Amino acid sequence: MKSQRSGFNLSPLVFMIVRGETEDVPPTIVFGLPAGSAAVEPSGALAVFPGSILHLECLFARKLGNPEWTWTSTFRQYLTGWAIAARERDWKYRLSIYYAKVQDSGIYTCSTPRGLSNSIRVHVVDVQCPVLNLPEPPLIGKIEGARMGHGATFECPVGFKLEGAAGITCQYNGKWSAEMPRCETIECPPINAIGDTRLQLLEYNNTFGGRAVFACMWGHQLLGSQNVECQGDGSWSGGMPSCVEIICPTPSIPKSGRIMESQTSRHNSPRKQHQTRVYKVGALVRFACLPGHQLLGEASIICTENGTWSHPPPVCKVRCPYPGDPPHGRIAPLKFWYKPGDNIQVTCSPGYVTPLEPVRKPTCRENGIWSAPPPPCRSYKDV
Ligand SMILES: *[C@@H]1O[C@H](CO)[C@@H](O)[C@H](O)[C@H]1NC(C)=O
Ligand SMILES: *[C@@H]1O[C@H](CO)[C@@H](O)[C@H](O)[C@H]1NC(C)=O
Repeated sequence: MKSQRSGFNLSPLVFMIVRGETEDVPPTIVFGLPAGSAAVEPSGALAVFPGSILHLECLFARKLGNPEWTWTSTFRQYLTGWAIAARERDWKYRLSIYYAKVQDSGIYTCSTPRGLSNSIRVHVVDVQCPVLNLPEPPLIGKIEGARMGHGATFECPVGFKLEGAAGITCQYNGKWSAEMPRCETIECPPINAIGDTRLQLLEYNNTFGGRAVFACMWGHQLLGSQNVECQGDGSWSGGMPSCVEIICPTPSIPKSGRIMESQTSRHNSPRKQHQTRVYKVGALVRFACLPGHQLLGEASIICTENGTWSHPPPVCKVRCPYPGDPPHGRIAPLKFWYKPGDNIQVTCSPGYVTPLEPVRKPTCRENGIWSAPPPPCRSYKDV
């Protein structure tokens, strides 16, 4: 089984669809419309607009003989015969109605030499649909006309989607097959109910070509893309990002030093046995060194928004502290801290001297303790 149609697009045709390839079935009738317009009525009749040129084709194998066209109209005679074109001439036996008139209405029958026949009802009628208004922008339309069988096609520019039928036709009953469609702006699903309250929208436009730009609350980092674009298919170009709290790694404790205090927050409840300290952005850690040590570097570091510490942890170096000037004397060199191996000597005020024997300068030892206190200055009178 195979259906044959020619002409233009219409709603499904109701003709006999069995193709007359053998002598045992009635022949198929199809139509062609080189000029004018037509529509199919629900009864199967072909409604033809006056003035159209109509070819009725009776499909039959020429080698089996000639079919015959007969008609009920008494208005005029019609040309019948095999189609001319090479690809049609052996199987299309044609009846042509030129510039159809109301009086051409009637039943047209094709009969095979063996007496099998098929008919088509032709109804020449002046039916017009209401004239369509010109489509209002942004709707773009191509309107053929408002006669029965005429059509109109519609589309929307980029950024819009067509709501309704892309094509409508003027039907046999003078009604358009559908209403004019509309163009609707393409919009992506709204992003308002973000579950994550730490996520903020810096920019938001959910029409086609627009974008949404995200940021996270202070102290949080964005996971995922910072912005998404509304695409032509009404979907966002990517998934929604999320925010994670920025945390600095636990700082290392310097050798011979300790962490004095830290403003940290605790992830776990205070009652849990193993508390892990969590260093959020802004957390401050202060270091101190054991006695006999000098702190080199920064004594305080802070957790930055990059998740890194503002400075590396300090180091604690073995040092001897300034031992203090003896009465009536000064030590040299004068420093806050002395390295192991450093010596000091004492210079006494006028009228004072240090003991001559034994001559031993205090030395800073490897443990950060002076080998001896600074020697005292004594009055001449006492020496
Ligand atoms: C949203 O984005 C579209 C495409 O870029 C633009 O044409 C439109 O003006 C924007 N709307 C607003 C309210 O900014
Ligand atoms: C974070 O890192 C960027 C580049 O790595 C740097 O330019 C910026 O100063 C850093 N910010 C802080 C607060 O450390």
